Amino acid sequence: MAKKVSTRELGLILGARLMKSEDLHYGYWPDGLEVTMANMVTAQTNYSEFLLGHIPEGVKTILDVGVGTGNFAQQLTRRGYQVEGISPSPMLTEMAQQRLGADFTIHQTTFEAFSTERKFDLVLFSESFQYIPFRQSLPLALSLLEPGGYVLIADFFRIEAAGESALRGGHDLAQFQGYLKTLPCQVLSDEDITRFTAPNLQLMDEWLTDYVQPIWEIVGYYMVKNHPWASWMIRKVFGRRLRKLEFKYLSRARNAENFSRYKSYRCLLLQNGLPGIGSGETTETSH
Ligand SMILES: C[S@@+](CC[C@H](N)C(=O)[O-])C[C@H]1O[C@@H](n2cnc3c(N)ncnc32)[C@H](O)[C@@H]1O
Repeated sequence: MAKKVSTRELGLILGARLMKSEDLHYGYWPDGLEVTMANMVTAQTNYSEFLLGHIPEGVKTILDVGVGTGNFAQQLTRRGYQVEGISPSPMLTEMAQQRLGADFTIHQTTFEAFSTERKFDLVLFSESFQYIPFRQSLPLALSLLEPGGYVLIADFFRIEAAGESALRGGHDLAQFQGYLKTLPCQVLSDEDITRFTAPNLQLMDEWLTDYVQPIWEIVGYYMVKNHPWASWMIRKVFGRRLRKLEFKYLSRARNAENFSRYKSYRCLLLQNGLPGIGSGETTETSH
């Protein structure tokens, strides 16, 4: 029987389509790049360049965890890296396989359930790290590495801040950093790039306000006027869920300012198998 498609997967693909983007990540918005839909592709390209710039010399084989639409994996293969992908989502696997060709290996599984005899020079998590419990993903990633191999993580984490965030997702940064210190690996670099990724939320906010809000209001008005009983029943049964959705998507709290308040977007490069567990030799940079 065919695997079911999750709403999270649909949301990711829909978001990318609406934003006319080939990738599923936030993009990288340097100072001076105007935050408009038209510049989304430039921001995505910047992000790819940024990640490519963090792949250490000598790396030849890469495991791309959460390959998405396969766009970044394609750029990696074009640059001569030998890449395999992991994709738990049937729809994304199909899209990526189409892009990358039948010879490209995509393991359709969650990373947690993945096993192989093969070792890689680098395991990449490009905005896929938050979906996997880090106490599972990190030891597994390290076990898949050649001696001295690398883990590259680019994703956002939750940080302590007052109030309720309308933005979900991300591991707790302090817990993650604490756990990292217990592992036999060294943190070669840890960059805070929140400022350069947050503008994506500005676009999202504009899009929700300009398109989703009016449609939501008009449908609500139509339902109350034409089907008052059905409307009442829907609110009665799904009221809590609807209010949650309204808070999440229509309260205008899903914006760049709140992203910077509640999240920290990091790019971390870890190296396997070196001495200095918890030695605190991290290079932490905030741009
Ligand atoms: C936000 S998208 C990022 C896609 C791509 N890496 C990029 O940068 O455009 C998140 C990706 O993580 C994948 N993912 C979600 N849960 C996962 C899991 N448990 N194991 C592996 N990948 C997962 C999704 O299928 C999707 O491909």
